[in-house]
Amino acid sequence: MRATDGFYGQYGGQFVPEILIPALDELERAYQDFKNNDGSIKLLQRYLNEYAGRPTPVYYAKNISEKYGFGLYLKREDLLHTGAHKINNTIGQVLLAVSMKKKRVIAETGAGQHGVATATAAALFGLTCRIYMGSLDVERQMPNVKKMRLLGAEVVPVDEGLRTLKDAISASLKDWVTNVTGTHYLLGSVAGPHPFPEIVAYFQSVIGREALDYFRLQGFLPDCVIACVGGGSNALGIFQGFLELSAVELIGVEAGGRSLDPGQNAATLTLGSRGIFQGALSYLLQDGFCQVRDVHSVSAGLDYAGVGPQHSFLKDSGRVTYTCVFDGQALNAFHELTRLEGILPALESAHAVAYALEHAQDLRGKRVLVNLSGRGDKDLGIIEKYMGKEA
Ligand SMILES: Cc1ncc(COP(=O)(O)O)c(C=O)c1O
Repeated sequence: MRATDGFYGQYGGQFVPEILIPALDELERAYQDFKNNDGSIKLLQRYLNEYAGRPTPVYYAKNISEKYGFGLYLKREDLLHTGAHKINNTIGQVLLAVSMKKKRVIAETGAGQHGVATATAAALFGLTCRIYMGSLDVERQMPNVKKMRLLGAEVVPVDEGLRTLKDAISASLKDWVTNVTGTHYLLGSVAGPHPFPEIVAYFQSVIGREALDYFRLQGFLPDCVIACVGGGSNALGIFQGFLELSAVELIGVEAGGRSLDPGQNAATLTLGSRGIFQGALSYLLQDGFCQVRDVHSVSAGLDYAGVGPQHSFLKDSGRVTYTCVFDGQALNAFHELTRLEGILPALESAHAVAYALEHAQDLRGKRVLVNLSGRGDKDLGIIEKYMGKEA
């Protein structure tokens, strides 16, 4: 999706300290050069295919389909190197960093998947890497913290605020303001100031392109496409393949957490209102005094009070429907997919599966494509805890 002057309708923009504007301009130029250079595109494609494992398959989940009465198709981003869609974006942005002659990358991470994918791409291209992660997320996603450290990244736990993704993004922005000359901030979702939302959407659009190719080859289209929404990168990645096809319904699933009460969920588009947050105007969970609300989700990657500006635009336009499922429903979907198909989904992706399972009656007889954005290995500790067995 392309921004007009940095905005999607009224959403987006660059609400940042003046000192970051030259870096954002430099990034925009590097991105435009990259997109218009056949050699750069070929290089990206080579790394995506030979290193990350693209194209990922679309899998028809026969057992779930038979049990629930609709045809479930899974776009298997969980099969990628490092276990999630995040690598599509980190390889792309590290190539941008190299083209800008930056020797250091920093990134925020929630579930740790973006941190691992950034540390991986940095190792591959010989860049110094620092990852900011809320200290609560450090505790609940320890396998990924260990991986990042083995990959040579410095992991900095952030003890401020709720100690989750929002606080990690704020710490990254602070670092970037201080070290802007030699550092690229490798933002992990379609959030933050322009041009980040557009760049991340561009690097994730490969998901939707491949999915559409698959269905064209089958000779039919899905009736609906479902994806989980944290910052919104995997959802926008797959939706972009189908945005122009009005017969295909698009559904974004947020974290309903424990309940719809304030502070108990991270359902930004379902329950939030407009506000400026971390560099952009978008929907936001905020209280009556415009203070960012506390958020909760069982999945660290969805535990975020903001969302990318494209999603705010798509919500207002009515093209995409945004809704949420609760922690318990996501956990149930995790077990269903694991036991019936032998696939352990990330808890983030389990939210998208859960929506389909919970709406099986309405979806009866339909073809449903779910973006399986990542694998669940990182979540085993949380799953055990919720099963009543402390990890
Ligand atoms: C597997 C997985 N899916 C989804 C997300 C949510 O991010 P986004 O909404 O940007 O796809 C994350 C974030 O860490 C993740 O690890």
